Amino acid sequence: VEPDEAWAHEVRKLARERDAVLLAHNYQAPAIQDIADHTGDSLALSRIAAASDASTIVFCGVHFMAETAKILAPEKTVLIPDARAGCSLADSITGAQLREWKAEHPGAVVVSYVNTTAEVKAETDICCTSSNAVDVVASIPADQEVLFCPDQFLGAHVKRETGRENIHIWAGECHVHAGINGPELAQRAAENPDADLFIHPECGCATSALYLAGEGTVPAEKVKILSTGDMVHEARDTKATTVLVATEVGMLHQLRKAAPEIDFRAVNDRASCRFMKMITPAALLRALREGADEVHVDPDTAARARASVQRMIEIGK
Ligand code: 13P
Ligand code: SF4
Repeated sequence: VEPDEAWAHEVRKLARERDAVLLAHNYQAPAIQDIADHTGDSLALSRIAAASDASTIVFCGVHFMAETAKILAPEKTVLIPDARAGCSLADSITGAQLREWKAEHPGAVVVSYVNTTAEVKAETDICCTSSNAVDVVASIPADQEVLFCPDQFLGAHVKRETGRENIHIWAGECHVHAGINGPELAQRAAENPDADLFIHPECGCATSALYLAGEGTVPAEKVKILSTGDMVHEARDTKATTVLVATEVGMLHQLRKAAPEIDFRAVNDRASCRFMKMITPAALLRALREGADEVHVDPDTAARARASVQRMIEIGK
């Protein structure tokens, strides 16, 4: 299936017939981003899902995102074009592992990244995304111990920004972002001395970026640790003419749309998430035709997970 005009027309028609809103994450293929009603980061899309009055949400992203939409809007039909679109980061901690960890730290506040299963969210006090993780942890009284999961690089970023010592960080990672490493970033920065660096906090190179700033290799004001949504805002504000982007490569499409005059370059152009790319034009068409794959979350788990997700969408920008 080619994402041509006939395809776009059919997708729009079927979406109208189903009273469906189409949401796409910033890492989706360009054609999927362009056909969606809303494209954004995990936090923005969760907020839109919670507020939408459409009876069906078609989530073009990975499974935990569609699950989060279902948790926030249990009365709506939530569809994902391919339910096999998982996430290596969400798979790095299970509900049972989190329960064991909590037992070792009684009374600790559990903060989980939104990249987790509903079962993990049900064991969580507050969820966060990369755009509000620092605000979420800062909202917890300083004398309370924090368990942060599952991403070690985002956890390290939060620890640095909040200056908090009583935070324990799970050793999970996203295989795509962990692979964008420090030496690669240093080399690209040396080749592009005037470039801004837009770095997603899940990246293996986030600490190296701050190190480059600390030793003066890159001016500190050019190093920007940002969620995918904040990268789009920053693209509109920056004076830079070249920007090196450390995140999944799907991001480049929204950045180029937001600021066509800027030369955006991937730090690692192999950083593509195969799960995100399972949402093909054919899969989206099939989802709308067949009403599949429908996302279900066990009602008890959803009820327990809802409180932590609600707090997430209320805190921060
Ligand atoms: P954000 O869109 O919240 O920055 O998340 C990045 C990500 O890896 C989602 O899978
Ligand atoms: Fe998960 Fe990483 Fe893919 Fe995001 S890029 S969906 S964190 S595997």
